[in-house]
Amino acid sequence: MMNEKVINYIESITRKRSPLLKEMEHFAEENNVPIMELVGIEALLGILSIQQPSRILEIGTAIGYSALRMAEALPGTEITTIERDEERFGAAKDYLTRSEHGSRIHALFGDALELQEEVKKHGPYDAIFIDAAKGQYQKFFDLYSTMLTKDGVVYSDNVLFKGLVAEEEVEQKRIRNLVKKLKKYNEWLMNHEEYETSILPVGDGIAISRKRGNKSEQA
Ligand SMILES: C[S@@+](CC[C@H](N)C(=O)[O-])C[C@H]1O[C@@H](n2cnc3c(N)ncnc32)[C@H](O)[C@@H]1O
Repeated sequence: MMNEKVINYIESITRKRSPLLKEMEHFAEENNVPIMELVGIEALLGILSIQQPSRILEIGTAIGYSALRMAEALPGTEITTIERDEERFGAAKDYLTRSEHGSRIHALFGDALELQEEVKKHGPYDAIFIDAAKGQYQKFFDLYSTMLTKDGVVYSDNVLFKGLVAEEEVEQKRIRNLVKKLKKYNEWLMNHEEYETSILPVGDGIAISRKRGNKSEQA
């Protein structure tokens, strides 16, 4: 992972965010809401702006920060996003109505493992962004990758979990269990027959999984 100096340097030269986004960053910090790290979201936005997805599914809205950043960076893109925490969902709804980009974001309240019908109505998706309960990534992937378009991509955040996946020993039991699950997910993903995956060591680690057998590979 990158060292703090480099992270600070990148943060110091990234483009300015709107007052609303700054307010959200502040709210997240004050209320311990885990939103994507600045360098991580910048990298994701860069890749998404090359991919130019028409529709994105996000699992894990929190207060709507990453959804709004994606909507702002991709002016024609529709985003469907899911959150199960009522308070965070309420905050997200408020923030989304305050942004000119909020009308392209469908925020759904509920557990992502139970919302397939509703999610399907807004699909299919060119990109799926998984940023929710770390122990359930494989379930999210299995459930929603069926709604991807042919050249669709799944982006999974937190796959390096602050670098803990590379540690031999993790003291805290709850964290140790999560690390175990994420490592299992990473290995499962890397060996997936239908997807080609690369892991970027930016932010908290982002896995990029592209369907195999696309035109570019057959050429
Ligand atoms: C890391 S935060 C999302 C941050 C957001 N993507 C951002 O960067 O602005 C993860 C969120 O996923 C939600 N979540 C976790 N498991 C979920 C599930 N099964 N269904 C819906 N939401 C879930 C949590 O309540 C939490 O608010």
